[in-house]
Parts: sequence; structure tokens; C-alpha cells
Amino acid sequence: MQIVLAPMEGVVDHLMREMLTQIGGYDLCITEFVRVVDQKLPARVFTRLCPELLQGGKTRAGTPVRVQLLGQEPGWLAENAVRAVELGSPGIDLNFGCPAKAVNKSRGGAVLLKDTEKLYQIVKAVRDAVPPAYAVSAKIRLGYEDTSLTLDNACAIAAAGASSLAIHARTKTDGYRPPAYWPWIAKIKQQVSIPLIANGEIWNAQQALLCQQQSQCQDIMLGRGALAMPNLAQHIRLQQPAMPWPQVLQLLMQYSEFEIAGDKGKYYANRVKQWFSYLKLQYPEAQHVFSQLRLLSKSQDILALLQQQLAK
Ligand SMILES: Cc1cc2nc3c(=O)[nH]c(=O)nc-3n(C[C@H](O)[C@H](O)[C@H](O)COP(=O)(O)O)c2cc1C
Repeated sequence: MQIVLAPMEGVVDHLMREMLTQIGGYDLCITEFVRVVDQKLPARVFTRLCPELLQGGKTRAGTPVRVQLLGQEPGWLAENAVRAVELGSPGIDLNFGCPAKAVNKSRGGAVLLKDTEKLYQIVKAVRDAVPPAYAVSAKIRLGYEDTSLTLDNACAIAAAGASSLAIHARTKTDGYRPPAYWPWIAKIKQQVSIPLIANGEIWNAQQALLCQQQSQCQDIMLGRGALAMPNLAQHIRLQQPAMPWPQVLQLLMQYSEFEIAGDKGKYYANRVKQWFSYLKLQYPEAQHVFSQLRLLSKSQDILALLQQQLAK
């Protein structure tokens, strides 16, 4: 079983990848998306989002980190894919699942699921441009509004030469509402022979198993669940119990120190609040802290609150 840490814009940044891969159990991480419009982006855009490029494309724990691109222009996506690989990314992932309005307006992300031919062109252009030794993977939802093109899209992506396909088993219209339709992945598996990675709504070991059974897919990708339970990958692999809350608090302190030092606290408050919004699904203690945390915006105040909790 391969376990992939899902890309999550605004939450799974390089510090989160560092911490979660150190806890262990992940075989691969995918970065937040790099938006490609109509130019070759400077190296700093890639290294800002993926500083792991400066250390061989791996987290310190040794887990490979693949750069994800989002856009609609095959040529520009191909050029930027080559750049990312030259900068040290061990492959490229293509985002065909992002539901954000701004992204879809400029025809990137999930809206491309309405255009099977375009999906083919993008994957083909990137695959042809990137040396064969590097993976070119794609990530899709089941569709935009419905599942009428699910199989066509998956077949087109495979025919264009993708090395693997991660499937978030919901349409764009489904948003993040449970359930995830894992049996759909098994249907796709009957049509395409590239490796598939099942994604969506895996929060614990039991759901991971159910997902594997229903999707007929060994490999899984963990998103929000990985934030709700920082040792989710090891919980699934080794039946570890959920990390105890005091240890999570220590992790939060470590994250806070890194995050505040890294970007001088610019994004810290939002990111830590977003992390809490997932932690409180797993830990009742987080719910209690969150009610105080949500009123705070200054990094120092948030740190003080966490320190106070840790001292309890
Ligand atoms: C806050 C947030 C940000 C996300 N950002 C990305 C992204 O940058 N690229 C991408 O392909 N998917 C992105 N996703 C989708 C996740 O990778 C994943 O497919 C989705 O959350 C379903 O998996 P889960 O139920 O395990 O969370 C994002 C999801 C969330 C909730």
C-alpha cells in the first residue's frame, strides 16, 4: 500500500509536510498547486511553494515531494513542468479537481473535467516534455456536475501517458459533502490500467480499509484526515492509536515556531486556525481551544494560548 499526503492549498505547506512525514507512513507528498497562466514562472515561485526542491525534492524525513501544476494551457504547463523537474521535483502532478471559483473562471482545475479532449492534450503535452524517468500524475474528481464523463476522462488521461491517477471520489458539485463514492474508483479501474490512488473521506483505519475494499484500490491519498489525526498514516499502517492530545499540542508549538519564523507570521493565524478546524473533528480538547483561538489574530497571542494549554 502506498499512502500519499494530499495537496491542500493554504494548509499543507512545507512545514506541515515536514512534520507529518517525520511522524511517518507517507510515501509521497504533493505540493499546493502552482498556478500556470501564460508564462514560464521564475524559479522562486517553485522554491517558495516547495522549498524541498533545494534539498533534492524530499522532506527531511526523505519523503519525495512532487510539484502540482494547475492551468489550462498545455504548452505553458509543459514548459513549467520541465522547469519544476529541472529545479529538483521528482515528477509533476496535474490538478484537475480544484473547485475554487476564481480558478475555474480562468478554466483551470475541476472545470477541465467538462473537456475530455483538453485533459488529454494537457497530460500529453506535459508527458512528452518531461523526461520519461519522471512521473507525470494527475488528480481528478468524478466530474464537474455529474459523472457522465468520469470514465472518458480517466481513459483520456491514461491514454495520454499519465503514470498514475488520484481520484477524489466526488464531483465538483458534491463539494466536500460525505460520502465519497469509492465504488466509482473500482469502475474506473476496470477501464484503465495505470495505477489509481483512492482519495476522499478517509479519517481512520476502518474507513481506509472500507475505501480499499470498495475502490478495489490499494493505494490511498489522505487529505483532511491527515490534519485531524497527525499520525493517521501510521494509524492505518500499524494500527497505532490516535496521537494523544498533549503530543498534538507539542506539534502545534513546533509548527507555530517554524511558521512564524518562516514567513514572519503573515499566514500563521489563518493556517493554524484552519488546522484546528480539522483537529477539532478528532480531539474534543481542540474544540475547546478553538473557541478561544478563533478570536485571536496576533501570532504572539495564539502562541501564548497554546503555551497555556501545554502547561495545563
Ligand atoms: C483546504 C483544501 C485545500 C485543497 N487544495 C488542493 C490543491 O491545492 N490541489 C488539489 O489537487 N487538491 C486540493 N484539495 C483537495 C484535497 O487534495 C483532497 O482531494 C480532498 O480534500 C478530499 O480528500 P479528503 O477527504 O481526504 O480531505 C484541497 C482540499 C482542501 C480541503
